[in-house]
Amino acid sequence: LNILGPRHDLAGETILVTAGGTREALDPVRFIGNRSSGKMGYAIAEAAQSRGAKVVLISGPSALYPPSHVELVKVTTADQMRNAVLEHLNDASIVIKAAAVADYRPVVVSDQKLKRTGPMTIELAPTEDILAEVARRRRPGQLIIGFAAETENRVENGRAKLLRKGADAIVINDVSGDRTGIDSDLNAATFLTPSTSIEMPVMTKRRLADRILDETLLLRRPKPL
Ligand code: CTP
Ligand code: CA
Repeated sequence: LNILGPRHDLAGETILVTAGGTREALDPVRFIGNRSSGKMGYAIAEAAQSRGAKVVLISGPSALYPPSHVELVKVTTADQMRNAVLEHLNDASIVIKAAAVADYRPVVVSDQKLKRTGPMTIELAPTEDILAEVARRRRPGQLIIGFAAETENRVENGRAKLLRKGADAIVINDVSGDRTGIDSDLNAATFLTPSTSIEMPVMTKRRLADRILDETLLLRRPKPL
């Protein structure tokens, strides 16, 4: 029995959370997207809000109902997500990047619906890496947490991503599990920092959100000598 009621250990924090997948238009009716539901990011936003944080949730298109008392910023493309993140970056004490950002966008977006005229090749250009940019621009004390979706060599790939992007930690999702990951209410993860690796077994995304916030707060604690 918790007679003290909910924890308020995030009071005074402003947490910027990105969630959902972005969509990159091909023409007025078609886009390139991914299967991200937004559930993990929305769960983090809800958990952080209920622990007393001010929360800004920057979300790609999602069918989810946004958590109450959270500032929701809706975006569609990777570029719009980047602009929204940079706009809110200064206010944030913690940034958690759960969004599945498009890696590529079509070089040409047709203003008319594309016609079926035989085989077609679409030229794609890479999008900006928002997480890496946020880590480069970080101010002292600001914590930057990324996510990584991996289907193989999770820890090795995740560690390489962590170092490449310069985040404080990366939450590695195994998106190949059949009960967990994309669109599921369950997830399992590895919380990876440059010096530690914490296994988080299968649990609801809402509980996992609290675990991720717990470990994020511990990053503030001075390391023992
Ligand atoms: N990310 C980002 N901007 C992008 C692509 C990814 O900010 N254009 C962020 C994601 O929000 C996530 C982290 O980078 O927090 C890792 O995303 P992931 O797709 O796993 O890594 P990538 O670097 O895109 O590598 P790849 O998809 O090739 O595995
Ligand atoms: Ca990617």
